[in-house]
Amino acid sequence: MDGRDVVRAVQSVGVVGTAQGLRSVRAAWRRRRTDAWGLPRRTGERARVPGPVTGVEPGPGGGVVRFARSQLQVTVTGGGAVFWGWDGAGVQPSYAVPGAGPEPDPRAVLEPDTKGGWRVVSERVTVVVSRHGAVEVCTPGGVVLRRDLPPRWWAPESGGEARWVQRSEVAADARFFGLGGRASGPRLRDGAYRLWNTDPGGSFGPEDDPLSLTMPVQLVVADAGTHLVFHDNTWDGTVTLREGDEGAGSGHDRPGGCEVRMSGGPLRCWVVVGTPARVLGAWAALTGAPAVPPAWALGYQHARWGFGSAAEVRRVVAGYRERGLPLDAVHLDIDHFDGHRVFTVDRERFPDLPKLATELADDGVRLVSIVDPAVKADPGTDLYASGRGVDAFVRDRRGKEVRGEVWPGESVFPDFTSPLVRGWWGQQYEERLAQGFEGFWHDMNEPVSFTAFGDPTLPRSARHAVEGRGGDHREAHNVYGLCMAQAGYEGLRKLRPDVRPFLFSRSGWAGLQRYGGTWSGDVATGWPGLRASLSLVLGLGLCGVPYSGPDVGGFDGSPSPELYVRWLQLASYLPLFRTHSALRAGRREPWEFGPAALEHARVVLDERHRLQPYLVTLAHLAQATGAPYVRPLWWSAPEDRALRDCEDAFLLGDALLVAPVLEGGTDRRAVRLPRGRWYDAVSGAVHEGPGQVLLDAPLSRIPVLVRAGAVVPVRGADGSVELEAWAPARGRTGGGLVVRDAGDGWEQPEIERYATRWDGDAVVVERETDEGPVAVQDAVRVRGVAP
Ligand code: NOJ
Repeated sequence: MDGRDVVRAVQSVGVVGTAQGLRSVRAAWRRRRTDAWGLPRRTGERARVPGPVTGVEPGPGGGVVRFARSQLQVTVTGGGAVFWGWDGAGVQPSYAVPGAGPEPDPRAVLEPDTKGGWRVVSERVTVVVSRHGAVEVCTPGGVVLRRDLPPRWWAPESGGEARWVQRSEVAADARFFGLGGRASGPRLRDGAYRLWNTDPGGSFGPEDDPLSLTMPVQLVVADAGTHLVFHDNTWDGTVTLREGDEGAGSGHDRPGGCEVRMSGGPLRCWVVVGTPARVLGAWAALTGAPAVPPAWALGYQHARWGFGSAAEVRRVVAGYRERGLPLDAVHLDIDHFDGHRVFTVDRERFPDLPKLATELADDGVRLVSIVDPAVKADPGTDLYASGRGVDAFVRDRRGKEVRGEVWPGESVFPDFTSPLVRGWWGQQYEERLAQGFEGFWHDMNEPVSFTAFGDPTLPRSARHAVEGRGGDHREAHNVYGLCMAQAGYEGLRKLRPDVRPFLFSRSGWAGLQRYGGTWSGDVATGWPGLRASLSLVLGLGLCGVPYSGPDVGGFDGSPSPELYVRWLQLASYLPLFRTHSALRAGRREPWEFGPAALEHARVVLDERHRLQPYLVTLAHLAQATGAPYVRPLWWSAPEDRALRDCEDAFLLGDALLVAPVLEGGTDRRAVRLPRGRWYDAVSGAVHEGPGQVLLDAPLSRIPVLVRAGAVVPVRGADGSVELEAWAPARGRTGGGLVVRDAGDGWEQPEIERYATRWDGDAVVVERETDEGPVAVQDAVRVRGVAP
């Protein structure tokens, strides 16, 4: 029990309320006891390294290199992705990679290297395996992007899972990104990052780590190239990063360092090299294309823990309508459940949800429901009884249901690592659909069990199906949220085959994008929380989960009007744009912050509404190419070191550069521009990159620049899609891709390609077709040309 545990214990007894507090103290002790007899004892351990090479066995795309005490399979695939696995670890089974992975590159062969090592050479990458098991990933030109030293294992003498460590070196100038949702990024500075999805147990800020969605995916960006490395292992672990140092003058470079330390599970990894766009494309090909949210989920959404009644929901929605503020969805939190029980409705306070849903739909507002995994352990309730009928709940080693403490009280936890249980859970969404809900917000799925001290989750010894292979919570914990998302997604596909499911989940793992997105959890109200919001979205996007966003205004307390407006401005350029707050926190409706803030908020909401077609385009492009909607400034210029270190601005797609204000009392801010001409989206003022510029940022506006030559689809005054084309610099050309909303079904809309160029003194916009370019005149507005 450490200091934080004591605080948690006191809080849980004092603040949560005595009965629940005491139950959470009991839950903590119970969990400890269960683990004490449920986990194998680690008495002695034996350390092992691979030892010297003893032979090779060539295979497709590489082969197996044998060492005295281990073996290494290396496979180079066609798309530039490399897989390697020690000790017989193969691509499958994997929660991240749904298929067999890309085909081996037939031209890549294992051949002898100097000094007794071996290497696999391919068009995009060379992998060199040393005589003692170091693995180097090199560019075709021979520059080393990553050097993994021989790994080391510690196996318990009594048998069972070995823990292992893998140390690596990267270039001295390299920067690290990713590892899932991290509040302190997006650039991951020196430190230890835990891989264990965790509810921080209160609002979090940049210093809190880990959070709900961790994953062993790093994007490493250096002058010599970009690579993504994924250690496909779901166990508890830690990644320790240390940026390198470039020796000035005659000094030596100190390489960057990465140490991955895992408590069990396979030692295998994927490395993808190429430009950031190529890397993310290959990553999506490997782990699944991001689901496309319905167009309404790319609008503005409002949530509140504690609407409390249907009447209050109506009042709030009317508040938006009366003020002429666009609103696309309202989210109902656990307070609409009966006794906090998932898949139920408090009929006194929400007497007719289907009617409410229909009324709101008539106003263009969708209803989204929270869904928590914990099921109240009450034999008198239908959900518990039906779950028991299919043996749905996690059990301990002795076969007893594992009980925890969550909102409904004593609860049990569906084992989402069982296909059968996922099927059963998926059917439960029928009740939600019948209530009129259109979208789903998965929460508390790290999973959380309130405990007064220690880790607020299930005992590590709790048993899980792990797809029929059998395992325990040490292996299943990090994929609990991912598997819950799969259950919901697949269930919804069966229940409403013609509609694309919309869900987003607090917890998850590599591959979550196949089923939906995420949000930033309970980010603390305050300027640091605002900054953390951007860090999370950028980092997750670089790990392949492109749809996310924060609780605008922060989860707890009450933001000042200035902070609220700044948060709203930033989030309106993020994929998930949602206001939300905690039960006892201040409200987040735009009119709660005074008349001036309301007018600033109106500008923000109107602009998001106008830009929705662009977000629809980006959602489809994310699915087609793996590129996140929100990208770091270095996306197309990873070699630009100054951009690599710029963490407070971002690109939204190819066209927009957003420079949010992340501190109070500011009305100007500096931003570093990537190469090319950029227009101020409002004034049309021209800025030339690369270089730093100072932008006006009064509270009434967030600085947004548009790339010269861009074509941006926007919603016109009559609701139809118009193209906004920005003049290219003289003598240059530009263009953009547009994908139009084709409804909430599965129809794959066409990707339209547009080009912009100068013709004399006029800017011409052309659509590229199979028959050649066709000039477009209707519904095009050219901007950036002096009148
Ligand atoms: C925790 C979630 O992060 C938050 O968004 C939600 O309001 C509460 N749980 C209550 O359901």
